[in-house]
Amino acid sequence: MATSVADVLDQSLAPRDPSMLLATVRSLDLAPDSLAVDVGCGEGEHAFRLAAHFGLRVVGIDPVQRHLDRAREVRRGEPEAVASRVSFERGTADRIPLRDATVDLVWCRDSLPHVPSLASSYREFGRVLRPGGRALVHQVLATDLLAPEEADWLFPVLGVVPASMDLDTSDGAIRHSGLVVDASVDLGSEWVEHAEETSGTASRALLHAARLQRDPERYREALGDAAYDVALGECLWTVYLMLGKLTSRVHLLSRP
Ligand SMILES: C[S@@+](CC[C@H](N)C(=O)[O-])C[C@H]1O[C@@H](n2cnc3c(N)ncnc32)[C@H](O)[C@@H]1O
Repeated sequence: MATSVADVLDQSLAPRDPSMLLATVRSLDLAPDSLAVDVGCGEGEHAFRLAAHFGLRVVGIDPVQRHLDRAREVRRGEPEAVASRVSFERGTADRIPLRDATVDLVWCRDSLPHVPSLASSYREFGRVLRPGGRALVHQVLATDLLAPEEADWLFPVLGVVPASMDLDTSDGAIRHSGLVVDASVDLGSEWVEHAEETSGTASRALLHAARLQRDPERYREALGDAAYDVALGECLWTVYLMLGKLTSRVHLLSRP
């Protein structure tokens, strides 16, 4: 029986998913009670995981007070073994409220697009890491396929791709940070392919983007202008990751 194009393309390329980050931490074999900092922790989801899975002490830092308040609220409902290991502090990637050479693991997932300077952020990771400490960084970057008007939709306030998402800037910041690159993985669209294959996330984002763009007045009236822009930006983020206009990378770094 002839194989159709659709039959060929329906076969998964077995994309990796975000659980690869936890597998990487496992491979580092950190001693329980080692100190980790979750940079841009949001509501603390990953800080709790690092404490629960590996017995690490984790300081989650984020500049947004609302995220810290929510993370502290969630902490109150966690089992004592997790809650006692996790705390949350106000901070940014380039101002981590921890002393020099005290941290065993910097975990930074999906936060670097927001930083004003990648160079000072990576330098700050090096400052807080103890010699031999590791940084596991997941980053989304823009590629040459992203057209200027598409950047404008994604970043309506800036109107251009922020420097923190520029591939060359990122490479330069890591090179000059004093950290050693142990591994770099170009994931491209893998995480979003995985999300699409398991829960249809990308096709739903595409459908939502189509609706938002076809009838903006309707959705601006229902959601408000700010929420409309955020919703469209988030949908396009997923779609552009699928199309290779954005790409994603993981770096494992160490302080010599
Ligand atoms: C997309 S969320 C990612 C949250 C979490 N790391 C995760 O993977 O689910 C980006 C986070 O970065 C935080 N953020 C914004 N500016 C930052 C900065 N300058 N330094 C560190 N984090 C920042 C935001 O408040 C937000 O919590």
